[in-house]
Amino acid sequence: MTYDVCVIGLGRVGLPLALSFAEAGLSVLGVDNDPDVLAALRERRMPFKEPGTDELLARADLALSHRAADGAQARSIVLTLGTPSFSHIEIDMGDIRSVLDDLLPLLQEDHLVVLRSTVAPGTTAFVAGYLEKHRGFTVGEDVFVAHVPERIAADRFLAEIGTLPCIVGGVGEASGERAAELFAPLGAPIVQTTPVQAELAKIWTNIFRYATFALPNLLMMDCERYDANVFEVIELINRDYPRGGIGQPGLTAGTCLRKDFTFSEERSNAPGMLLAVSRVHESVPLFLVDGVKRRLGGGLRERKVAVLGLAFKADTDDERDSLSHKLIRLLERELADVAVHDPVVATPTSGFEEAIGDADVVIVATNHSAFVRPEALRAIAERAGADCLVVDPWNALGTGQVFAYVSEVVALRA
Ligand SMILES: NC(=O)c1ccc[n+]([C@@H]2O[C@H](COP(=O)([O-])OP(=O)(O)OC[C@H]3O[C@@H](n4cnc5c(N)ncnc54)[C@H](O)[C@@H]3O)[C@@H](O)[C@H]2O)c1
Repeated sequence: MTYDVCVIGLGRVGLPLALSFAEAGLSVLGVDNDPDVLAALRERRMPFKEPGTDELLARADLALSHRAADGAQARSIVLTLGTPSFSHIEIDMGDIRSVLDDLLPLLQEDHLVVLRSTVAPGTTAFVAGYLEKHRGFTVGEDVFVAHVPERIAADRFLAEIGTLPCIVGGVGEASGERAAELFAPLGAPIVQTTPVQAELAKIWTNIFRYATFALPNLLMMDCERYDANVFEVIELINRDYPRGGIGQPGLTAGTCLRKDFTFSEERSNAPGMLLAVSRVHESVPLFLVDGVKRRLGGGLRERKVAVLGLAFKADTDDERDSLSHKLIRLLERELADVAVHDPVVATPTSGFEEAIGDADVVIVATNHSAFVRPEALRAIAERAGADCLVVDPWNALGTGQVFAYVSEVVALRA
């Protein structure tokens, strides 16, 4: 075999992992079928932002290919392909199936195939069964298959790859040992379990977060009904209360949270609960638009609305599955004049001052650190109209209200 490991799918999960394997001294082949990704890497340029990876890329000895079949030149093959959800609540395994079919004729005894993508329960057993059915291997004896899920948050890769427990679900003991041997050089403690438990642990890590954030969002909408202040209610709940606390509201989505719950929901015995959680988050943009309309009166037609933030969470440049886009679409359907500013994403947006200039409404859609500064609110007070309505479900600007007129909050603070 020419390489120790091949990583197929050099996206936000695969590329930092491939670089970490290279940094740990393994010979690595990276495969991606997107020519733009390969072109960027050949120029030693990260296609996205992930702290610390520019330095790793600058010194990595990373072989590259666009053909998944080349993965068979490595002893271990790690699949880090996207696993979206179909709109009908079912995992879309199209990319995994396609790469497996490319590899199938070339797999040999002793190969290890690792599923690093997030998958629905039972997918690792499916992959093992697929190799047995089509090639006659006995998985766990001739070839090895394991699920080693990725639980690192965006922007935290290098901080967590060496410390966050590495869950290994091998098909049979020998698969688990082979996968542990592959990941051991990265330094994190290895926790062995079964494939389906590894799959459940990953998706329920995200389901737990998604459900947890739904509660403050639901409370925010309840508070609007009763003309109460959600931040004050949350403070009352949490203050010196010894049995946990409730989180803060915000726009909750992103490629993982927005779809991973469907991998449970597609076969759930209690269908509906997680769909309701999703409905809470997905209705927050409309809740904000309706709240603005109620306060402004007369609709949003030709009113200038500045949306601050396109990314799905603070300080990342990842805007996939961000609710900002839904918010903007809803505002455009009201015929508002929408200006967008995001200081982090690659998509070109207006400058901060241009976006907020003469705005009737400013909505903080992402709580980027750039907005969590007193100067941000001061600039809005100066550049937007005195009656500008500031909408900030994150309380990033420190107004202490989801909807506040800038003149009131700035006067209060003066
Ligand atoms: N982004 C995250 O923070 C994160 C965190 C944990 C888990 N995950 C999971 O990890 C998986 C990957 O996520 P991601 O965000 O890195 O996805 P991504 O879309 O950024 O990366 C997937 C890459 O695979 C490539 N690809 C697709 N088909 C291919 C093929 N046939 N051959 C070669 N390359 C191919 C794409 O060009 C892309 O670069 C998903 O299952 C996701 O749910 C993501």
